[in-house]
Amino acid sequence: MPDAPDPPSPFVAAQRDRLRETARLGPCLDLACGRGRHARFAAQAGLRVVALDRNAESLRSVAAIARSEALAIAPLRADAESPLGLPLRAGRFGAVLVTRFLFRPLAPAIEGLLAPGGVLVYETFLARQRSLGAGPKRAAFLLDDGELARLFPHLDVLASEESLRNGGGGDAWLAGLVARKPG
Ligand SMILES: C[S@@+](CC[C@H](N)C(=O)[O-])C[C@H]1O[C@@H](n2cnc3c(N)ncnc32)[C@H](O)[C@@H]1O
Repeated sequence: MPDAPDPPSPFVAAQRDRLRETARLGPCLDLACGRGRHARFAAQAGLRVVALDRNAESLRSVAAIARSEALAIAPLRADAESPLGLPLRAGRFGAVLVTRFLFRPLAPAIEGLLAPGGVLVYETFLARQRSLGAGPKRAAFLLDDGELARLFPHLDVLASEESLRNGGGGDAWLAGLVARKPG
């Protein structure tokens, strides 16, 4: 039996019902999924999930969990920073989950992946995280206050939060956004 990934972030877990409602629109993408804690969470909620990461070992672990728990997760190895873009069809996903990953130039493509009515759930570090002396240090990986919603100007904001909270693995300064593509 493979080791289960960490539990989902409470911010993502709180969106369970909203995510379930997106199942009719298309599968859910866990972008930069790591060991798949949110892919697993979404699949357990009844969604079909594509779990994308560039790390082959992480994806092997996601595949092992999917097999052992009979979850509908399709691992996909891809570089989200490739100048060629993502190997995914626009408008295909009912939901996109992104946690603890930031590549600002990808924001328009993330909007484009959502089907009309689809939901983005995004949570990642604020620059204030530096004050804790842990986590990412580079400006490219850290959000300014108020920036996350501005990266997705074509989505309607449903919830937005910036706080010191536990996103899994201890307290961190995190921005969270839940936003819907107009249908
Ligand atoms: C801090 S981990 C977060 C994993 C997961 N989202 C979570 O919250 O548990 C960042 C993940 O982003 C992935 N990653 C980093 N750069 C990437 C890229 N260019 N394309 C795809 N995945 C990438 C890493 O392999 C790693 O699994």
